[in-house]
Amino acid sequence: MDERIGRGMSKVSGAPALAVVTRSSRPEFGDFQANGAMALAKKLKRSPREIAAQVIDSIDLNGIADKIEIAGPGFINIWLSEAFLSSSICANNPLIEKTPQAQTVVVDYSSPNLAKEMHVGHLRSTVIGDCVTRVLSQLGHTVIRQNHVGDWGTQFGMLLTHMDELKDRKSAQKEELADLEFFYRAAKKRFDSDPEFADRARANVVALQSGNVDVLHTWQQFIDISLSHCEALYERLDIQLTRADVRGESAYNDDLKSVVEDLDSKGLLSESNGARCVFLDEFKNKDGEPLPVIVQKSDGGYLYATTDLSAVRHRFNKLRADRALYIVGAPQILHFQQIFAVARLAGYVTQNQELTHHSFGSMLAKDGKPFSTRKGGAEKLANLLDEAEERAFELVSSKSPEMNTAAKKSIARVVGFGAVKYADLSKNRTNDYIFDWDQMLSFDGNTAPYLQYAYSRIKSLFKRGEVDFSKIDSGISAQSAQEHQLAVCLLVFQETVESVGREALPHLLCNYLYELASNYMRFYEHCPVLSAEEDLRNSRLLLCKRTADTLKLGLSLLGIGTVERM
Ligand code: ARG
Repeated sequence: MDERIGRGMSKVSGAPALAVVTRSSRPEFGDFQANGAMALAKKLKRSPREIAAQVIDSIDLNGIADKIEIAGPGFINIWLSEAFLSSSICANNPLIEKTPQAQTVVVDYSSPNLAKEMHVGHLRSTVIGDCVTRVLSQLGHTVIRQNHVGDWGTQFGMLLTHMDELKDRKSAQKEELADLEFFYRAAKKRFDSDPEFADRARANVVALQSGNVDVLHTWQQFIDISLSHCEALYERLDIQLTRADVRGESAYNDDLKSVVEDLDSKGLLSESNGARCVFLDEFKNKDGEPLPVIVQKSDGGYLYATTDLSAVRHRFNKLRADRALYIVGAPQILHFQQIFAVARLAGYVTQNQELTHHSFGSMLAKDGKPFSTRKGGAEKLANLLDEAEERAFELVSSKSPEMNTAAKKSIARVVGFGAVKYADLSKNRTNDYIFDWDQMLSFDGNTAPYLQYAYSRIKSLFKRGEVDFSKIDSGISAQSAQEHQLAVCLLVFQETVESVGREALPHLLCNYLYELASNYMRFYEHCPVLSAEEDLRNSRLLLCKRTADTLKLGLSLLGIGTVERM
């Protein structure tokens, strides 16, 4: 439809024009609205209503719309035909069609620092990235996940020294490493209180960087343990990241020298106080002084930025990405602007390749302050997940006291983790958001339990009616206003998912699913299903089924599960 209207507009203007077709805000304005006539009128200096009329005359929406009207200053309101609606959402049509322009897309997400245990601050990148990768794969793109973990740097000197000290007491080492937060604090305490320990830690950093085999061995042990902590959390949360997706900072070590040489050979480097930097005109501090991207310190050491330049090169040259997406918090906006600008200048990325940072705000506590433990400091992600399971267990128990404990527990996991993820994903990621247990576990409003409940209600309807879909071969006819609204909503699932893939904005999908479930509830209130006469009953059952399938797939694209009963 967009295309046909776009062509109509172009015909009228004599130049390419955009249709800008959106959902109508109210049923009296039709199902869709094309707003391009106003912009066109301005350009052509003619009346927008006249333009709109001319556009309508020159387009053929036969088979799609059965009523087109001009409203207000020049909106084109469009009512879809029943036939078009029912054929578009018939059972044979897939819920999501693959894109004809499949790309290779690298997504950098989660990427925690391995020196410490994952804390609540890692939740956002992890769940947003997980959703974006699921969406892109569903659309048919080749997705390469990259977990750019922080596995290198001076902190490791202190951690490895502490590990060495505990080596003789095997059980103590095992015990301390079981809780990396504890381990980190213990190592830090030794480092701060014992100068001899601190000296050894510094020597370990040097040994690590120069490739000392023994130190590397201990380092690898530590990294493996830390990664298995992450993986336990990924598994609990059903995050699709594996060991094969880990390509940490250390993986780029051997390439850093060559990156700096390459930048130098391209004439991009200048020296500033002994450090080697790239200065770009567009980056100035607030006093208007140039802001350098430092790629090598005066002592010869490389930086986070150097590693990221190497990673960009790897992603486009070796992994052959068409697009690379970075799901990293807002504090790194400037870092990525600089890295991307340097990478383009250096020719690591060409014009048709896309390199974008999708930043996000912080998760805040109910009082609007950063989320932290009672003692201060970041809350472990594992503790948050424990609490989610406990709270959801209570919720399920109060709803279905008769259920056995094992069943309650398994539902509680789906509901609890679903609630936590959904609370995060449903907010526009660019803002900070308030983490509020009561809100996210509520059955009312835009929450995961609300959607999961809607899904389970549809499933129990099928059970009650002993419905056998293999015996229904008729189609959907959306007669009443509620059926029509629900059908139109089902129709736009595809474009919603496409926009999440384009903009990496999961809340668009959340809002969509919420609207879908709400449309379903209105439909269910007004349109009897099981008690309707056969043809109507079948059509309505098919609408219910399409809704349930869409809810299930939509939630799974958010990384959220469903249950048959709750
Ligand atoms: N480890 C980093 C941190 O915790 C995030 C890495 C993001 N990805 C990247 N390519 N820099 O802040």
